[in-house]
Amino acid sequence: MQVSLIGTGLMGTAMAERLLTLGHDVVVYNRTQDKCAALQQRGALGAGSAVEAIEASKCTILMLADAPAIREALFASGKPDFQNRTMIQMGTIAPSESIALGQEIRMGIGDYFEAPVLGSIAEAKAGRLLVMVGGKAEHVERWHEVLKCFCEKPLLVGEIGQAAALKLALNQLIAAHITAFSLSLGLVQRSGVEVETFMNVLRQSALMAPMFEKKLPRLLAHDYARPNFSTRHLLKDVELCLNASRDANVATPVLAAIRGILEETIGKGLQDVDYSSLFETVVPEKL
Ligand SMILES: NC(=O)c1ccc[n+]([C@@H]2O[C@H](COP(=O)([O-])OP(=O)(O)OC[C@H]3O[C@@H](n4cnc5c(N)ncnc54)[C@H](OP(=O)(O)O)[C@@H]3O)[C@@H](O)[C@H]2O)c1
Repeated sequence: MQVSLIGTGLMGTAMAERLLTLGHDVVVYNRTQDKCAALQQRGALGAGSAVEAIEASKCTILMLADAPAIREALFASGKPDFQNRTMIQMGTIAPSESIALGQEIRMGIGDYFEAPVLGSIAEAKAGRLLVMVGGKAEHVERWHEVLKCFCEKPLLVGEIGQAAALKLALNQLIAAHITAFSLSLGLVQRSGVEVETFMNVLRQSALMAPMFEKKLPRLLAHDYARPNFSTRHLLKDVELCLNASRDANVATPVLAAIRGILEETIGKGLQDVDYSSLFETVVPEKL
């Protein structure tokens, strides 16, 4: 099957690689065109514009930073012919943004559904993402061959907007977990308790989360290079979650404080490194 993919950043590149590995024809477009070069060397076709990419295939995956990026890619240089084409939006955007995008694309007689993902680069390359679909059962059926490249079984969550909401609910847990773990690790270190003692107790308790184990080496080494997911995008997701929670009348003081921590981290120039760099703000260097 031929699939177009717009947005070959960290995740888009991994997903395009996965499609190529499974033998699909892939058309790629990225604003910064040289980020498509490695994929083209692996056999992907490079499109000169987003319009060209969309019009080349029946189905286009959107894996862009946020909703403004999607709008710029899709509409800034002329409207694509959406007729009989399906846009699968797989980035993390607000429920309201996804609903509006779907309406606009359907006005152009195209089809649209959302399929945000949980998991990162390694999971994308291995086809082990958790794909949450907001749309109709027909979407999952019609595009099963594409969706199953990234996951064992795509999950139909509900209408457009509901999978986007679920994705935000999950991503605020990433922010909360890493913030809480950073505080505990900092306190342990500055109290002179062995980190291994802390981890051993944690591992035996119901409090353990796999992400603690995964992020610990980075925090101990203060090494945030080669990010899977950037501080910039975690802040974006926290802001989207704050807005969605406010609309749902869910109290957000803890998440608002985490937003402050992420903003401070970005103020240190850590926007494009791994989000666990917020450790530098939670546990600043001693005076
Ligand atoms: N990384 C993860 O682990 C992960 C996991 C699940 C979901 N997500 C979500 O997936 C999406 C992509 O994440 P990522 O980590 O791949 O991000 P990324 O590496 O920062 O890539 C962002 C992509 O968006 C494009 N873009 C940004 N602003 C644009 C604009 N104004 N016009 C056109 N294109 C624009 C970038 O193009 P340029 O290269 O030209 O800048 C790039 O292709 C985000 O919504 C993120 O929250 C990420």
